Amino acid sequence: QNMSIIGVPMDLGQNRRGVDMGPSAIRYAGVTERLENLQYHISDLGNVPVSRPDGKNEVQDGNLRNLQQVAESNQKLAELVDQEMEKGSFPLVLGGDHSIAIGSLAGVAKHHENLGVIWYDAHGDLNSGDTSPSGNIHGMPLAVSLGIGHEKLTTILDYTPKVKPENVVIIGARSLDPGERELIQEKGMNVYSMHEIDRMGMSQVMNEAIEYLRERTDGVHLSLDLDGLDPEEAPGVGTPVIGGLSYRESHLAMEMLAESEILTSAEFVEVNPILDDKNKTATMAVGLIGTLFGEKLK
Ligand code: ARG
Ligand code: MN
Ligand code: MN
Ligand code: MN
Repeated sequence: QNMSIIGVPMDLGQNRRGVDMGPSAIRYAGVTERLENLQYHISDLGNVPVSRPDGKNEVQDGNLRNLQQVAESNQKLAELVDQEMEKGSFPLVLGGDHSIAIGSLAGVAKHHENLGVIWYDAHGDLNSGDTSPSGNIHGMPLAVSLGIGHEKLTTILDYTPKVKPENVVIIGARSLDPGERELIQEKGMNVYSMHEIDRMGMSQVMNEAIEYLRERTDGVHLSLDLDGLDPEEAPGVGTPVIGGLSYRESHLAMEMLAESEILTSAEFVEVNPILDDKNKTATMAVGLIGTLFGEKLK
């Protein structure tokens, strides 16, 4: 199977420096070698350009920081992802902050009638300019993909919405803003928060999520924010939230996804090597990627 690695050194969707070096940190931790050992044919396409903002990380256009630059990079990312999928190659996108899911999903969803999404994250990323407490676009990409938010973001590749709310499963949530909770209620979205994971166990959560998505979707994108993991184990993230998913739970989840063979694209985001401890978080990402693509099965 062919796989295309696409880096997006994006740090404009939030306000901590260093997450633009995430793709380098993940490459340095050996992602290509790891996947080549699993017999994937890897093309590393390098990084999508991210331009510098003219102001200083300013909140523009209705509470959206760096809107113009974030939209431009996501447009380029979407085109690249679309092009690689067209060739039948599996896109693996490396971030960068989570605002890049806007472009990944725009490129991927074009190739599906009914795309499913697993959002593995401490956060819902379901804000819009109206509800965001921060103006940070990395807190908005899932809403944008549902067609909610600024037009410059929702209309990338000229179609909207990219994803139906009933096709999304959020796993690991433990920090949701009031507007995000309202949206989840209103749309009846599937959320396995830490509460459900503690009560049911990751094994049952993943079983349910996989069977649910297998029945109703024709492809599944995994969007994995490293802050879904506990910051003790993955400290190199900009918005850590205590009480997160463990290394073991996360590997189990990746292993079950590997066995299920439902995934059609994936991204790993929010690795910030400046905030990290000896590249531990990027190394964790590469370990999870290895498991996701079958290391434990072969
Ligand atoms: N909910 C907060 C906000 O909207 C935090 C979002 C964090 N998102 C992320 N991808 N780490 O600003
Ligand atoms: Mn296409
Ligand atoms: Mn997050
Ligand atoms: Mn996120």
